[in-house]
Amino acid sequence: MPYKGMLKKRVHHKHKIIVIGDLDPKVQMMTMKADSKEENIPEIRVLIYGVGSIGSRIVRLLLKKRGLKIVGAIDASPEKIGKDLGQVVAAERDLGIMISQDSDDLLSDVNANVAIHATSSFLKDVYPQITRLITHGMNVISTCEELSYPHVVDETLASQLDDLARRHGVTVLGTGINPGFLMDTLPIVLSAACQEIRHIRVERVIDASKRRLPFQKKIGVGLPPDEFKDMISKGRITGHVGLKQSIAMIAEALKLDLEGIVEEQVKPIIADRIVESRGVKVNEGRVLGLMQVAHGIVDGENFITLIFKAYVGADEYDSIKVDGVPEINQRISPCIHGDLATAAIIVNSIPKVINAPPGLKTMKDLQLPSAALSDIRSYLNV
Ligand SMILES: NC(=O)c1ccc[n+]([C@@H]2O[C@H](COP(=O)([O-])OP(=O)(O)OC[C@H]3O[C@@H](n4cnc5c(N)ncnc54)[C@H](OP(=O)(O)O)[C@@H]3O)[C@@H](O)[C@H]2O)c1
Repeated sequence: MPYKGMLKKRVHHKHKIIVIGDLDPKVQMMTMKADSKEENIPEIRVLIYGVGSIGSRIVRLLLKKRGLKIVGAIDASPEKIGKDLGQVVAAERDLGIMISQDSDDLLSDVNANVAIHATSSFLKDVYPQITRLITHGMNVISTCEELSYPHVVDETLASQLDDLARRHGVTVLGTGINPGFLMDTLPIVLSAACQEIRHIRVERVIDASKRRLPFQKKIGVGLPPDEFKDMISKGRITGHVGLKQSIAMIAEALKLDLEGIVEEQVKPIIADRIVESRGVKVNEGRVLGLMQVAHGIVDGENFITLIFKAYVGADEYDSIKVDGVPEINQRISPCIHGDLATAAIIVNSIPKVINAPPGLKTMKDLQLPSAALSDIRSYLNV
């Protein structure tokens, strides 16, 4: 059975209802796909592009899934190139897949349906990598934060990606926990229960000591405050990337007349004593992490407010408050684990992306997000 990124053509799904045994038909009706034998559908061939902290987690999750097969791995790090993928991601066994640098030969040979991409946060950096994957006929799912809603970064690059993906019959998606889910997709879904909305406020507070090292570096953990400010102003540390993308995605989903997005200056959170958490020690007067706030403006007022705090020792939670009719107050405590959830969202998105029409998409454009617990092929519209 063909699927997108295989024959580069969409095939619509059919369902049939099967009733089993003597139980109440309401209880026993099962919806199964016509020709539901997943075994008749070829395994989804997956290429890994970027085998860092997140790429490694994604590989370990993919190895637990049925219905797909990792067929290649690319990374730029000389320490990883030439090694077995299983060793690099700390899997239980060698996988017989050698990590390679990017090359046309490899991209052609692997014949992948989907590329999982996890190299960088910025559109201009990932653009050439993503275009190569598209031109080799692959659907792309990337953790790149700016790709989650690239239209607010560079409309020209975004529409070029969209054109290219359409021409090659594949779909491109940027996603992850944040941006991609917690501060955009989830509030969008919650808004479905509202008749009116006056304000949406989302706050995410995470303990940086629980997160990977690249993340801790990105938020300046351990730096003296002056160095933090200097590095932020020179772009040598970035803080969290994605508040703008999340606001734009919510505004577009709700068709708000967004006048602008205001990002407040990034504020360091300073240790007022020695703070030690999970092996991370920050001395008094040094940076524990940071706080970032951004607003989406409608009719001159803040309509959407996103607050992101990440620091060592934080009491973790996620909160979504919709001031509307009805009012919605959702609190997730502790906050959703970012790295575990990002790996999940990326893998769970594989069938949604294959099922989507070709082009550059965002989470609000795909089927309702959900876990893919069964054979991944069972979620395909074939
Ligand atoms: N949306 C979300 O919720 C979300 C969640 C988690 C992560 N992310 C983002 O995902 C990205 C990856 O995260 P990470 O923690 O895995 O970072 P990481 O540990 O630094 O891994 C990135 C890997 O990609 C490699 N790489 C960099 N440029 C490359 C290129 N041009 N071609 C091939 N490989 C390249 C790196 O090699 P070198 O080490 O040699 O550079 C490294 O091995 C980051 O930008 C992160 O912010 C987003």
